[in-house]
Amino acid sequence: MTDTISFLNELTSLLGERGLIREPDAMARYTSDWAGDTLGMPLAVARPANTQEVAEIAKRCYEHGVAMTPQGGHSGLVAGALPAAHGQELVISLERLNNVRAIDPINFTMTVDAGCILENVKLAAAEQDCDFPLSLGAQGSCQIGGNIATNAGGLNVLRYGMMRELVLGLEVVLPDGRIWESLNALHKDNRGYDLQQLFLGSEGTLGIVTGAVLKLSPRPTQNRTALLGLPSVQAVIDLYSLARRDCCDLLTAFELIPRRCIELAIEATPELSDPLDSAYPWYVLMEVAATGPIDLGSMLEQLLETGMERELVLDGALASSDTQSAQLWQFRESMLEGQRRRGEHLRTDISVPISSLPDFVSRASDVVMAASPECEIIAYGHVGDGNLHFNILPPLSMADSDKKAHLHDLEERLFEVLDDVNGSISAEHGIGRTKQAPYLARLSPIERELISGIKALFDPKGLMNPGRILPAKQ
Ligand code: FAD
Ligand code: LAC
Ligand code: ZN
Repeated sequence: MTDTISFLNELTSLLGERGLIREPDAMARYTSDWAGDTLGMPLAVARPANTQEVAEIAKRCYEHGVAMTPQGGHSGLVAGALPAAHGQELVISLERLNNVRAIDPINFTMTVDAGCILENVKLAAAEQDCDFPLSLGAQGSCQIGGNIATNAGGLNVLRYGMMRELVLGLEVVLPDGRIWESLNALHKDNRGYDLQQLFLGSEGTLGIVTGAVLKLSPRPTQNRTALLGLPSVQAVIDLYSLARRDCCDLLTAFELIPRRCIELAIEATPELSDPLDSAYPWYVLMEVAATGPIDLGSMLEQLLETGMERELVLDGALASSDTQSAQLWQFRESMLEGQRRRGEHLRTDISVPISSLPDFVSRASDVVMAASPECEIIAYGHVGDGNLHFNILPPLSMADSDKKAHLHDLEERLFEVLDDVNGSISAEHGIGRTKQAPYLARLSPIERELISGIKALFDPKGLMNPGRILPAKQ
């Protein structure tokens, strides 16, 4: 204990009172995440103000053998940013590293601190008539470092790619405190192995990202949003196939929403009312966006006409202003809050080939309903990427103490169906702690050896976010 106290005192003299939180009440904010399913217990919370301070903290942790938990906006959904319950991990929050360092609108790049909140990065890009296209429900709280560490996806992946396609350079503090500076702003760079990409999706297990060069796009000057009612998942996929060809690269979002999610959105935000005259089993929220003199309105109307002729689309609402578009997107946002209010439930983040989606949803639903007829399936997601959040709400009558085991059983059954179509158990949220067992169970011996070797190379003492992705070093 004396050692711990002297270690923390050393950090306080390094970072100042503002830079190290030791009081339990003040630490509470860093012990839970958006989902609220898990509680962590930090040794203390370090709040460095710059890269040098992050490096000094890591150096001391490395010397003293103290485990580190890098933390961004705690919106991750696999419990990776929460310190372990044993209270021995030092949380390193990046929240004070929040400056936009530079924007180059000719090179279409932006250099930022890792603690910048995604929404602020998007606004700063827009001020220079550029677009940073990563968009997700948590953008008001998640940080660029968290987006890099999780290789975040979101709503616009089908046009712009995931975070790994939006990062050109990185600055990283390694577990021993050395700073790897690679803030390249090069659109092409083929010099040997790509070390940088190892950090995309590394979930804080290889180092702490402190800065990044992001790739920007021209800012769309117009967009059109539509919320459509459809009869089946097959119709959704047929419409997607049509839209992908007819709208080509102008398609920015194609989201699947089941009827139950519209109801959950209205429950969470009572100002919302049913968006269409009747209820439909499935909805698609789609958006097209462009810069320059392209008639997006006619393009979308023509697509919907064809969709209606082929009886894929049964009804729809087209937004004719930014306000109306925001109202349609409000359903997508509020349905997440509606689910969260239902308490503990199974969250999944799976992907399958887009063409397999209808068959997968049907088979997986049959398997889950056979095992638990009273649960509710909520299968929504980014179908333009083959990415489904096939979530399961336990029966309302189920005792809290029974939920975990029940949901675990359903997850195993669901993943067996997923294995049949060679799907992924994690499309965009990562592995963290909550998906570790199914992840490890599916790694081949060669993959496990290579992945463990990479971890050991970067983090020989196993101090950087131990127990996330791979088991902690014994
Ligand atoms: P945190 O939750 O703080 O951390 C996540 C992981 O990254 C942890 O393992 C942590 O240790 C590590 N980490 C954080 N910062 C750093 C750093 N600087 N260096 C090294 N490691 C770090 N995700 C999607 O992909 N698509 C979506 O559409 C989407 N929608 C969401 C909607 C809602 C309402 C919510 C709550 C979450 C959603 N997410 C989505 C998940 C989440 O927002 C993303 O995973 C996000 O990228 C996490 O960022 P964060 O800053 O909150 O990271
Ligand atoms: C979404 C998050 C949960 O797509 O990934 O809503
Ligand atoms: Zn998602």
